[in-house]
Amino acid sequence: MRSTVGWQVEGPSTTLRRTPLERRDLRPDDLAVRVDYCGVCHTDLHAVSARDGEGGQPLVPGHEFTGVVTETGPSVTRFTVGDPVAVGNIVDSCGGCAMCRAGQENFCHAFPTLTYDGIDRHDGSTTLGGYSREYIVRDRFAYPLPAGLDPAAAAPLLCAGITVWEPLHALGVGPGTRVAVAGLGGLGHLAVKIAVALGADTSVVSRSPDKVNDARRLGAHGLIVSTDPEQMADARDRFDVVIDTISAPHDLGPYLRLVAMDGTLSHLGHLGSITVETTDLLVGRKRLSSAGSGGRPATAAMLDFCAKHGISADIEVLPSARVNEALDRLRRNDVRYRFVLDMSDLG
Ligand SMILES: NC(=O)c1ccc[n+]([C@@H]2O[C@H](COP(=O)([O-])OP(=O)(O)OC[C@H]3O[C@@H](n4cnc5c(N)ncnc54)[C@H](OP(=O)(O)O)[C@@H]3O)[C@@H](O)[C@H]2O)c1
Ligand SMILES: [Zn+2]
Ligand SMILES: [Zn+2]
Repeated sequence: MRSTVGWQVEGPSTTLRRTPLERRDLRPDDLAVRVDYCGVCHTDLHAVSARDGEGGQPLVPGHEFTGVVTETGPSVTRFTVGDPVAVGNIVDSCGGCAMCRAGQENFCHAFPTLTYDGIDRHDGSTTLGGYSREYIVRDRFAYPLPAGLDPAAAAPLLCAGITVWEPLHALGVGPGTRVAVAGLGGLGHLAVKIAVALGADTSVVSRSPDKVNDARRLGAHGLIVSTDPEQMADARDRFDVVIDTISAPHDLGPYLRLVAMDGTLSHLGHLGSITVETTDLLVGRKRLSSAGSGGRPATAAMLDFCAKHGISADIEVLPSARVNEALDRLRRNDVRYRFVLDMSDLG
């Protein structure tokens, strides 16, 4: 084993503490990555909050990071020491099922290995995430970081970016498609940037009217205030695609009513059971869909697209020692639009 250091919650506490961590020795197809920047995803906050009073396995969050290759296993050919790389929320999959063969490793029938709180397919250990100085990753699940992308601002592309990229693509969003993005946070602001770059006619739906100038700056036409019934009624049936990134459980009815006939609500934000009034689907023959993360080909394509269009996240970089403050502020919706932890204070 090799040692590094990271930010971990242990027992029933929700405070992350600086902790020495063990990483596996390199397998033949592994890379050692020095983690430089790791985004703070709302999923990290959900995972930390779930420990409150409950405990469980020690948890090191973090599943969108960039860094530099420091060592390679003997069968690695795609990377060499010194290469800038990016890693997202999947670090392995079975490789043989129909989904993996189709390049949709995110839907692996044997379940993909998650970057943290996942089960390693070889040694059965619990994976520890990117809030740490070093990560060992199978080479297939590391991506070359395209030149021209800032390594800090690119980190959030690896979860937030790919999670909105796949559905935007699968739903055929392009020039003239009318897209609404519900929830202007980490996922939401990247959904707006990518939809705009794809040529879509894009709007934001938000409970925060003070985000209107940001929405416009990101390229959206405007912001519909979700708590204003009149604005929501005016926007009825207006969008071919609604990308729902809201992080809390909510009634889908008001958002389905924004969808045009034969259009789709892609529900990405809050995972768990939902109740849907079928008449909200019936009237207008509307579709309800979901997605998560991305396969290897889509992730590589997303990075290329973002490099070409100059798309990365709007970030606030904090030293990793301020991770608890970042999570507190994320809980209070006080971020424009992604915290990124600078790991250099870990040595
Ligand atoms: N499907 C996947 O694979 C996947 C991947 C990554 C993340 N996620 C999930 O996606 C969600 C969003 O993640 P994120 O990192 O983008 O979070 P985030 O930065 O906190 O953004 C979430 C946004 O949702 C809106 N919102 C929050 N609470 C709300 C409430 N009670 N009612 C209405 N709107 C609310 C806010 O936007 P406004 O102020 O504009 O209303 C907020 O900015 C999280 O639940 C996360 O776990 C899923
Ligand atoms: Zn995430
Ligand atoms: Zn598989």
